[in-house]
Amino acid sequence: MTNFKQKIAEQIAKVTDLDEKELETYIEIPKDEKNGDYAFPCFRLAKELKKAPPQIASDIKEKLVLDEKYIKKVDIVGGYLNFYINTNLLTSEVLKEMEGEEFGKSNIGAGKNIVIDYSAPNIAKPFHIGHLRSTVIGGALYNIYKYLGYNTIGVNHLGDYGTQFGKLIEGYKLWGKEYDIEKDPINELTKIYIRINEACKEDENILNACRDNFKKLEDGDEYCTKIWQKFRELSLQEFQRVYDLLGSQFDSWNGEAFYSDKMPEVIDILEKTGKLIESQGARIIDLEEQGINTPCIIEKSNGSTTYATRDLAAILYRARTYDFDKALYVTSYEQVLHFKQVFEVAKLLGLDEKYIKGLTHIPFGMVLLPTGKMSTREGNIVKLEELLNEAIQRAEDIIEEKNPSLENKKEVAKKVGIGAVIFNDLSNSRVKDEIFEWNQILNFQGETGPYIQYTYVRTRSVLEKVGYLPNMADIKIEKLQDCYSQNIIKLIYEWEDILIQVTQKDEPSILARYLIDVAKAFSVFYNENKIMIEDKELQDARVYLTFCIGKVLKTGAKLLGIDMPNKM
Ligand code: ARG
Repeated sequence: MTNFKQKIAEQIAKVTDLDEKELETYIEIPKDEKNGDYAFPCFRLAKELKKAPPQIASDIKEKLVLDEKYIKKVDIVGGYLNFYINTNLLTSEVLKEMEGEEFGKSNIGAGKNIVIDYSAPNIAKPFHIGHLRSTVIGGALYNIYKYLGYNTIGVNHLGDYGTQFGKLIEGYKLWGKEYDIEKDPINELTKIYIRINEACKEDENILNACRDNFKKLEDGDEYCTKIWQKFRELSLQEFQRVYDLLGSQFDSWNGEAFYSDKMPEVIDILEKTGKLIESQGARIIDLEEQGINTPCIIEKSNGSTTYATRDLAAILYRARTYDFDKALYVTSYEQVLHFKQVFEVAKLLGLDEKYIKGLTHIPFGMVLLPTGKMSTREGNIVKLEELLNEAIQRAEDIIEEKNPSLENKKEVAKKVGIGAVIFNDLSNSRVKDEIFEWNQILNFQGETGPYIQYTYVRTRSVLEKVGYLPNMADIKIEKLQDCYSQNIIKLIYEWEDILIQVTQKDEPSILARYLIDVAKAFSVFYNENKIMIEDKELQDARVYLTFCIGKVLKTGAKLLGIDMPNKM
């Protein structure tokens, strides 16, 4: 599609001798449509040109040679040049773009590899609401990068290793017979975990036994490995139920344990740099000089490796295996320090600069429940599977109340319930903490997943009522010149730009907010414009636009991981 900003910049560049690329970054979209489609603020040139902004505006306007194919008119308002584009061109280009199966797909990411490390729950612990955010944010980024043509690799870096397994093994040894692990694995293991933690607090010997167990596991001890494997398999079966509900998929399930035989190399490289030093029996990298006060522990005093060492091994592995341009790590902001340390130490691994530059932590805020924060150790947890099932149940109750005769109620309830939870997680900027409130996320009138779905369903029912889809080629674009239709056309025109912004900031909420804008624009369009009317050409144009909106909403929701019902 025509890049109107670039066309405007090109013309201004011709008459000012300023850099076209830079001028393009100055161009704004006015809040009020009375001020045109694009505005060029002359304030930024005042210093360089030593003139008042309105004077600059009028000088430029005088010299401008408008190419009417793109720009119809330019006005001066204060220090601004306001541009009015050729809306017929815009409209026909947008409609054409919408024709294909996958509109607005792009290949700007072609040839670039993006590793996204997300979800990563911990074996033998509940998949909780905090992992939901990682799963949902990471999943959305995965889809969006892919849509833009990037080669995307989704990695579930399972927490399947570490000292907690030493504890679990010890607890299992002591009291395993008292718990029915096969029947309800994670709940039972959690109970053992809570109990062993209590025991450790009271008895130093037990704590030491736990530490030894993990060391044994690392050294390949048969008994410890066998129990660990059992915990892992049973946990994965439970996690899979959650992934099935969410529709999550991963290209790799290489978790922390995968790196157990890859850590000696990391330690070897670090040793050779001379930066790996002894401190209280442990081996650490001091990061004081890099402005990080806490050192990165590479090996504990009993010789066990750490979470950080495994992440360093994973960086080496991913650089070699995936040759990544970017490696994203989606976790809560509680891990900001961890990734600062790891990325800093990674500079010592002798990797190409490109990989170091590509390492990016994508932190997100906490999910707070009205009852407060949750933690496995204290046992105050909300299991995600229960939460998702509750969402589905609540959606079903609402449907039962609003539309009792709906077909496939269960299937629709699943889409609405899960969609509500996902959208809630994505609609606010990710670093913000969020409070999880049922009434808010399931409100069909609010800025929610169900609202997007409901709007989509309305577009479908319009199409169903008229009973046909007009041919794009037959649409009379001049029938779509009213401001409500133009508002929608402009939003659709922004689609690719929105996706690019998401990847620039690794912020799926930009797409979520955009879908809200599109849904609102449709509501206004629908309230102001009759669709089934005498004027067949006008009707066709409006029907086609309705179809386009449905397509944008459906594709956008899909990228966020949300399925659309056809009716609700
Ligand atoms: N398992 C970790 C947790 O639950 C998240 C792992 C994130 N990824 C990584 N490469 N460290 O907190």
